[in-house]
Amino acid sequence: MPAENSMQYFYEIYEAMPRQGPGDSASTRQALSHLPALTREHRILDIGCGSGAQTVDLARATEAQIVAIDNHPPFIARLVERVSELGLEERVAAQVGDMCDLRFSDGSFDALWSEGAIYFIGFAQGLAAWRRLLAPGGHLVVSELCWLRDDPAVEIVDFFEAEGADVGDLAARQKAVAASGYELVCDFVLPAFGWWENYYLPLGECLARFRSAHAGEPEALGVADRSQHEIDMYKKHADSFGYVFFVMRRD
Ligand SMILES: C[S@@+](CC[C@H](N)C(=O)[O-])C[C@H]1O[C@@H](n2cnc3c(N)ncnc32)[C@H](O)[C@@H]1O
Repeated sequence: MPAENSMQYFYEIYEAMPRQGPGDSASTRQALSHLPALTREHRILDIGCGSGAQTVDLARATEAQIVAIDNHPPFIARLVERVSELGLEERVAAQVGDMCDLRFSDGSFDALWSEGAIYFIGFAQGLAAWRRLLAPGGHLVVSELCWLRDDPAVEIVDFFEAEGADVGDLAARQKAVAASGYELVCDFVLPAFGWWENYYLPLGECLARFRSAHAGEPEALGVADRSQHEIDMYKKHADSFGYVFFVMRRD
């Protein structure tokens, strides 16, 4: 039961967030600029979309049909609301789904997009499993945690190890791209803005509200402490790790 409660608290915090991971519209558009124009005939699958910050960016920056999937129904419900508010129902379908069991036909999409989510299936595993969904010449764009220096401090290495997070070496990720049957079109690092202004500042505000709502509840406060610790780790070690966007083309 405690673990279940912790998950509920965790979701309560992240459901209140404008996005569920570091990212920013400019980086989404930057990645998109390396793909051919996506018009009405094209289809994009946004995998692990959360409440859809990047889904909406993709809808605004292209004319494509978009399917956005996430396995947490409240995120999808939020995205459905947002899509309706923005009048995008004709082009954006948000669905509950599992990235490990994507039930679409081979070659159904011209672009697969996954910001800050491929780690749930694993970088190399996701690249391999999702490739069949792309039409020949289609693109896969993901952002994923990577070390940005060769000598990260022991404290941050231990932190990610305790979290069970796979922070990859950039060269190893680039090799995995080629080994999985993609050409690496480009990679670039998500700027600090995407971590601070878009993610950790709102997270800090959500945590303050969450703490007031759950004052005197040790389990809830423990969940908030854990998120705060993540913010503190980023503050201290931001030069050591980051999200790298990988823009890949199915060969
Ligand atoms: C760090 S969040 C990123 C969300 C969004 N892309 C963003 O950048 O705001 C990772 C997302 O992956 C979703 N997720 C985790 N496991 C999943 C699975 N097996 N299938 C689909 N989505 C999953 C989570 O619910 C969460 O919304």
